[in-house]
Amino acid sequence: MKVSVVGSGTMGRGIGQVFAQAGHQVKLIDINKEVLGKAKENIKESLARLEKKKALTESLDVIMERIEYSSDIADVKGSQFIIEAVFERIDIKQEALENICKSASPDAIIGTNTSSISINTLAKFIEGKERFIGTHFFNPVPVMKLVEIITSERTSKEVIEKTEKVMIEIGKDPVFSKDFPGFISNRILMPLIREAIAVYEQGIASAADIDKSFRLGMAHPMGPLELADFVGLDVCYDVLEVLYRDYGEPRFKPPITLKNMVTAGKLGRKSGEGFYNYR
Ligand code: 3HC
Repeated sequence: MKVSVVGSGTMGRGIGQVFAQAGHQVKLIDINKEVLGKAKENIKESLARLEKKKALTESLDVIMERIEYSSDIADVKGSQFIIEAVFERIDIKQEALENICKSASPDAIIGTNTSSISINTLAKFIEGKERFIGTHFFNPVPVMKLVEIITSERTSKEVIEKTEKVMIEIGKDPVFSKDFPGFISNRILMPLIREAIAVYEQGIASAADIDKSFRLGMAHPMGPLELADFVGLDVCYDVLEVLYRDYGEPRFKPPITLKNMVTAGKLGRKSGEGFYNYR
């Protein structure tokens, strides 16, 4: 199958990689050529890790050759499955989705990788709303088996079934969610992170001990503050804001400590500093 992924940041490049690993021809598209270059490097590194532990069924080079890199969104033309994975901002997603629709074949399925924006809202930017569906992947995409499939009021049954089939075929194990803010995972994860920040804010325990509690007490691979740094503190803040705005419940209110850290540019791993120092 021909697949296009629009947006080649952390999520987009991971999604492109898993489709290529499953034997699909992938076009990884990003208007920023520098980001595309980084994506290529990063995919190679990730495949090398998988190759080293004999988790690939083909050679790294064969898989790499299945991925074409392009800075022209019109290159989605001819793809049967298109996934938008640009920045988590509604105006940026609107532009990307409208441009995708200008070149996509009328029968192409269009998925969106969003962690918190409503699928019904994004569907407004789509021509042929029945072919639009939410496909929320998890970081690191080549490792995490989960994908949340989110349907809008207008997604067709055929598109839901096809998307499920495709996700299973690329090695994911999907769950289904209605279009409610945070879907399943982030609705539950973000209040956990929020409460961990409250325990830290109140000086009850150190970040290291909060995280250790979850690693050793609940067998989580990362504690909630490590995970927040891994996901990006700006992303956590943005998702909490959406949850708080839409549900109006204090349990979703973004903590002031989180706001201060994000404002100061402490975004977690990607900026080198968050609840921990990565420099
Ligand atoms: N590509 C390929 N393989 C990778 C990889 C990558 N990018 N990153 C890690 N791996 C592999 C490693 O090779 C290793 O494989 P092995 O165990 O078979 O040798 C395995 O994953 C573990 O990696 P490491 O040994 O380097 O490091 P860790 O043991 O610390 O694991 C981790 C790293 C997989 C990130 C683990 O800590 C983890 O699972 N953390 C939780 C991640 C999580 O919860 N993600 C979801 C975030 S929420 C989200 O994305 C939704 C959004 O909307 C907010």
